[in-house]
Amino acid sequence: MVDLGAIRDNVADLRARVGAAQVMAVVKADGYGHGLVPSARAAVAGGATWIGTAFLEEALALRAAGIDQRVLAWLYTPSDDLAPGIASDVDLGVYSVAELERVVAAAESLGRTARVQLKVDTGLSRGGCTLADWPELVEAATKAQATGAIDVSGVWSHLATAEDGPRHSTNREQKALFADALRHSAELQPEVRHLANSAALLTDPDTHYDLVRAGAAIYGLQPAPAFGDFGLRPAMSLRTHVALTKRVAAGSGVSYRHRYSTSSETTLALVPLGYGDGVPRNATNAVPLQIKAKRYTVAGAVAMDQLVLDVGDDDVRAGDEVLLFGASGPSALEWAEATGTIDYEIVTRVGARVPRTYVGEL
Ligand SMILES: Cc1ncc(COP(=O)(O)O)c(C=O)c1O
Repeated sequence: MVDLGAIRDNVADLRARVGAAQVMAVVKADGYGHGLVPSARAAVAGGATWIGTAFLEEALALRAAGIDQRVLAWLYTPSDDLAPGIASDVDLGVYSVAELERVVAAAESLGRTARVQLKVDTGLSRGGCTLADWPELVEAATKAQATGAIDVSGVWSHLATAEDGPRHSTNREQKALFADALRHSAELQPEVRHLANSAALLTDPDTHYDLVRAGAAIYGLQPAPAFGDFGLRPAMSLRTHVALTKRVAAGSGVSYRHRYSTSSETTLALVPLGYGDGVPRNATNAVPLQIKAKRYTVAGAVAMDQLVLDVGDDDVRAGDEVLLFGASGPSALEWAEATGTIDYEIVTRVGARVPRTYVGEL
């Protein structure tokens, strides 16, 4: 279940934190598993004026659904056709002169001006133009902008360790390098300069600039757990119902390879969700689930479609609701900590087989 009201309210909360800066709601990867279009609509209802996606297909799906806010898409390959993005008024992230040339060619073939946002790599060493190549990219963009083929609507970068807070040396260094890169591209007069992800938004106002790119925070995840949950509301609850219960004897081995064994006569409850639905395989004997306000740790190996709980002598029956994680039970962060990952991955991997039901008035 996805609470769209929580996404809307989280965005409104984030907007209040960033003053004059705008909020870009990041909805890539099917809205971190919450649903691409519903998440975008909820974020717009909360005041997001930009939407961020990784892939062009995601941006085009938003347009097809009638979402007409500004959309930035930032990841594509030479085989992707950029023309539909330009024709649909999608801003394109650009990392290199070669990419810029492809955007210019596509814009010229359409007879349109493409909006591009130049990304500088200030230390993440992922997407973006190295500082060494930045002057060349800025020069090429200046020339292309003069011809009308492009409009440089943004200059941006991405932080590597924002969750460690403003005092972390990598953050200080990246902020300084971003400020330098902005000085060296000032003549492009970008409409928006942006650096912050959720963790930076929440912990470091120096990163806010004109726009913040918020993903995790809009879904009520905890992007900077060491600094608290900031009162954001988790939007996703993963629920199902007990499929079967049965009494078994003490010493019964449970699930594949018998990685759990009952210590006394007990009731086992079968829960019809498994790694095919995004429950991590290494949730085996590790994560808490909740039935009627009581928590039980997964008993034995998580299988593709199912897992088992040892509910002792509690009155648990087939049909009872099971809350795997969500606002009123274990958090996605607890699941992440028990399985050695981050809460982003827990929600994003909830599989396509799990129907999303939406609640919350927009
Ligand atoms: C370039 C970029 N900006 C912003 C975000 C949003 O980050 P977060 O979910 O931590 O707010 C992401 C997500 O990974 C990203 O790749």
